[in-house]
Amino acid sequence: MKPLIVAVPKGRILDALGPLLERAGVDAAPLRANDRRLVRPSSDGSLSWVFLKPDDVPTYVEYGAADIGVSGRDTLLERRHDLYTPVDLGIGRCRLVVAAPRGRALPDVPRVATKYPRIAAAHFAKHGVQAEVIPVHGSVELAPLVGLAHAIVDIVETGATLRENDLEVRETVAEVSTLLIANRAAYKLRAAAIRPLVERLRAAVG
Ligand code: PRP
Repeated sequence: MKPLIVAVPKGRILDALGPLLERAGVDAAPLRANDRRLVRPSSDGSLSWVFLKPDDVPTYVEYGAADIGVSGRDTLLERRHDLYTPVDLGIGRCRLVVAAPRGRALPDVPRVATKYPRIAAAHFAKHGVQAEVIPVHGSVELAPLVGLAHAIVDIVETGATLRENDLEVRETVAEVSTLLIANRAAYKLRAAAIRPLVERLRAAVG
């Protein structure tokens, strides 16, 4: 039997994923291997883990290059891929917020820097605010400090980055957590492999 290909994001989510997989009875050792291999088989050969930048995980799964994967709700909201999301894994919990310099009023047409231009545009449109959305790729909190933008839409986890840059939350845009995603065709064709894994993960999430 061909191994099930599982796409996981490199970076901070991997650390939280290991213990969850172990609670679900899945061997997480390939996630901890300290090497540069981008494809790592499980010891029993039933799974093949592939390691990607977080934003690329849903792309690989949507096109069927991976059968299932692990992705943040923020990425999925922004990109609107055609995927199944059978399990909320409950890890990587954070909020997508509008933030701005502490105490400073926003102009009628604020410039908003964000890694999430679609989510930000939809949020402001829904609230009747005409905003100019400026896409950036990281260090988003810098934008209001140097005059690129009046506000940002970004992820807050501990709040430390906002605090240390004299920014404050103005509104919550969405609650975010990490989801198991599945290719629609694979979910049917590889059901015998995917469904038991889904059930064990659901039980492990509690
Ligand atoms: C994320 C996010 C915030 C920060 C929030 O950035 O964009 O900047 O984490 O976390 P906190 O509330 O716990 O401080 P990341 O570290 O992924 O890097 P980036 O700025 O390059 O996007």
